[in-house]
Amino acid sequence: MSDATTSPTPSPAHQPRILSGMQPTSDSLHLGNYIGALVNWVSLQDDFETYYFVADLHALTVPTEPAVLRHRSRVTAAQYVAGGVDPVRSALFLQSHIGQHAELGWVMSCLTGFGEASRMTQFKDKTSKGQTANVGLFTYPMLMAADILMYDAAKVPVGEDQRQHLEITRDLAERFNTRFGPTFVVPEPHILKATAKIMDLSDPTSKMSGSTSPDAGLLLLSDDPKRLTKKLRSAVTDTEREIRYDPERKAGVSNLLVIHSALSGTAVPDLETHFEGKGYGDLKAEVAEVVVEAVAPFQTRMAELLADPAELDRIVASGAERARVVADTTMARVRDRVGLLAPLV
Ligand code: TYM
Repeated sequence: MSDATTSPTPSPAHQPRILSGMQPTSDSLHLGNYIGALVNWVSLQDDFETYYFVADLHALTVPTEPAVLRHRSRVTAAQYVAGGVDPVRSALFLQSHIGQHAELGWVMSCLTGFGEASRMTQFKDKTSKGQTANVGLFTYPMLMAADILMYDAAKVPVGEDQRQHLEITRDLAERFNTRFGPTFVVPEPHILKATAKIMDLSDPTSKMSGSTSPDAGLLLLSDDPKRLTKKLRSAVTDTEREIRYDPERKAGVSNLLVIHSALSGTAVPDLETHFEGKGYGDLKAEVAEVVVEAVAPFQTRMAELLADPAELDRIVASGAERARVVADTTMARVRDRVGLLAPLV
């Protein structure tokens, strides 16, 4: 019997682990990615063993020019670091550099019912909006489950849109553990309610999305100050005058308050008091100032990182080295549990 079967899981020998990733599917992350996820990733580095990766295999579900995908993967890694992911404390890597993700994804696909996969809302949404449905898009959640379960992640910091994927991940972990014996940690989503869904500026009833929002609705972390200010000045609000947090009736104004609060650290009720008697123009101007102030140092750091791609490649190589140690152990355990013969070495 291999070591893998005798080692109990979950392993208590390390700090609880955190894992998360983003797809390199556009030329820049947007403010929803930043406020909804990246800011939380950064703060979790203090108390957990953190694994953050660029989901480049997931990005293959969207047909992309190879050179563009390579560029976007580097930009995404640079944006993680520019946003505060510390490559010394966190393992920062590319998903495709750890071949075991695809292997465990296959095992997860073999545990998933066809009907169960068909009910995934992201798949249904994307295909209904005209994205060509390849089989990779269909099995996307199983690869995501593999990403998470590979590292025994206790918590997964994501925005609200990923909740259903976390639920199927939990189901698959429990199913595997029941069928093959305790193997995987069942992960908890880590979704901070206040910032879990940043809305599209041009249609504040839809989430800000790199793939579906029009440019006017998206605040890209690579946009220059003028562009950010212009987009915020044109943000859709409502016909009232009162600056009040009410996401049901005042989605646009509420979204602006949430963005301000997340970046300035001022609580929403204090902002409501601050803006008493002021107009939407004042709110938009001040949110623009806060956004520009937050994004400026980020952009400086991003430019430095992108100017030295060799250093970036070294950062992700060293992250992959750390991730591979965990992935090797997990996959040895999984192969053994499911009954794949170990190769002679
Ligand atoms: P992705 O690339 O669509 O989004 C990256 C992260 O940003 C969050 N997010 C938002 N948060 C608040 N408001 C918004 N408007 C907004 N838009 C996006 C997302 O919730 C996410 O946290 N499937 C994942 C990538 C992935 C992954 C994983 C994540 C692959 N494997 C394993 C966690 C663990 C995705 O497409 O995220």
